[in-house]
Amino acid sequence: MAFRDTKSKIIIKTLQQIEGIKKSSQLAALTLKAVAPHVKAGVNTEYLNKFCADFIRDHKAIAATLGYHGYPKESCISVNDVICHGIPGKYELRDGDIVNIDITTILDGYFGDTSTMFMIGEVSDHAKKLIGVAKECLAIGIRQSTAGNYLGNIGFEINKYATSFGFSVVYEFCGHGVGLKFHEEPEVGHVADKNSGPKLAPGMIYTIEPMINAGKARSKVDRKDGWTARTIDGKLSAQFEHTICVTKEEALVLTDMDNEFKIPHEIF
Ligand code: MF3
Ligand code: CO
Ligand code: CO
Repeated sequence: MAFRDTKSKIIIKTLQQIEGIKKSSQLAALTLKAVAPHVKAGVNTEYLNKFCADFIRDHKAIAATLGYHGYPKESCISVNDVICHGIPGKYELRDGDIVNIDITTILDGYFGDTSTMFMIGEVSDHAKKLIGVAKECLAIGIRQSTAGNYLGNIGFEINKYATSFGFSVVYEFCGHGVGLKFHEEPEVGHVADKNSGPKLAPGMIYTIEPMINAGKARSKVDRKDGWTARTIDGKLSAQFEHTICVTKEEALVLTDMDNEFKIPHEIF
């Protein structure tokens, strides 16, 4: 989720910075891999947060969310109708739940940001479909991330795809530039006009993190905790996030540990 900062520009990272951001990104992705076997019915979300916090610290990194604008935990864990920024706590996962865990690491001063979905036990076909579409939305955004293309085409193509299934795309939270800070320029909307926004160039690093809702797109933030963003209709929401670097070929997906995406030969 990005905070708007209109004064600054999109940073073109150096090869050295890209290397550093990649290391941090891989650690964030590795944290999700490590916690995966623990994400099951009966565990509470604070237990999972503690596991991630320990894992990040054991790898000599810092969890970027802790203390960020007052956020109280080392991860965001968003269950069912929670769109994003779910605060880990006493809630015990149960059969049929869908869960997003979002990890941002700071390693040697560099930021990496990624999230993925988990299904607890037997999940409805509807929930599976939503998760599948959200995952493909991220892949669509990555494929749009080519030098010379318009940033807006990421959101344009994601929104076109998700709405073709009757789902909606959250527009109140966005992807964001990342690497030297948690949230940098640009703001990466997951709903956008065709050929809008700045042109992409090699060395730009940002997240794509589409939040796809089963019902209405609107969100409401919990009045008590000031963070948890839920769907207004109580329907399900799913999200995947990668940190990517634009290159002269296809995008380099810095948080891809599964070799799901091709690796370009050269950045510049
Ligand atoms: N990791 C989230 C993102 O993808 C941001 C979490 S900000 C926090 O941008 F303050 F809620 F932790
Ligand atoms: Co992010
Ligand atoms: Co994130």
